[in-house]
Amino acid sequence: MQKVALVTGGNSGIGFATAKLLKEKNYAVTICGRDAARVAQAASELGVVGVVTDMGNAEQVQQLIAQFTDKPLDVLVNNAAIARFMPLGFCTSEDFDEFFNINVRGPLDLIKGLLPSLEKTRGSITNVSSAVVSNGLANAALYAATKGAVESFSKSLAIEFAPQGVRVNVVAPGAVDTPIIHKLGLDEAMIPAVKSHMESTIPLRRFGKADEIAAVIVAQLESTYTTGAIWRVDGGVDAC
Ligand SMILES: NC(=O)c1ccc[n+]([C@@H]2O[C@H](COP(=O)([O-])OP(=O)(O)OC[C@H]3O[C@@H](n4cnc5c(N)ncnc54)[C@H](OP(=O)(O)O)[C@@H]3O)[C@@H](O)[C@H]2O)c1
Repeated sequence: MQKVALVTGGNSGIGFATAKLLKEKNYAVTICGRDAARVAQAASELGVVGVVTDMGNAEQVQQLIAQFTDKPLDVLVNNAAIARFMPLGFCTSEDFDEFFNINVRGPLDLIKGLLPSLEKTRGSITNVSSAVVSNGLANAALYAATKGAVESFSKSLAIEFAPQGVRVNVVAPGAVDTPIIHKLGLDEAMIPAVKSHMESTIPLRRFGKADEIAAVIVAQLESTYTTGAIWRVDGGVDAC
């Protein structure tokens, strides 16, 4: 029977590359994203189902879950997230709510709502974290806090869901060449210099590519004896 996959943030970057690879492996793929035009374009390009969902909106997350009610789901990739870098002194209470709603509560609500569907297949969840959890970065405390939460809830859920055979793991990328760099709040003119500086700190001396991360996500989803694991895919940064 054809396997079924849901990839959040599948309209861009790592999520798009993951959805593409799963589709190539003959999964029936649904992607979601916030931007309706980009979701429609990506869904048509990939030949998958596209659903407009703001992961920070609890009602819309429930509507996404409803599409899978009583249906089997083999893999869930919690990839959608926001990242904006700013000094802690500039973080407002609205920023705290936005970051935690999109990056932590949304994925947790999705996992909770989709668990019955994942139980039907003894399915697999990969949650996308970040190298900032293990390597501190100035101005990234709020983003890092949300990704730290993703890593810790994943380990707990791996134990909690093991009796049902549902696996929960994490892929934690380092710097990857995707549109996210333009969403960090950096001055566009500064981006080439920032990238070049970052590259000089990466042992492999380059950013990763979205399809390199997608390949690891799919390998992790299909790694049937792996649960509660955090796979760091960062060009060697974690070894420094
Ligand atoms: N690229 C890196 O260097 C890097 C490093 C470490 C970790 N990561 C993580 O990798 C994941 C993918 O990032 P990326 O680099 O591929 O960035 P990206 O190209 O900007 O993709 C981010 C995706 O998340 C979606 N998204 C953001 N907010 C959303 C919301 N409220 N509701 C639904 N979807 C939302 C975006 O959809 P819309 O466009 O529709 O908003 C987009 O599809 C993220 O979890 C990120 O934290 C990336």
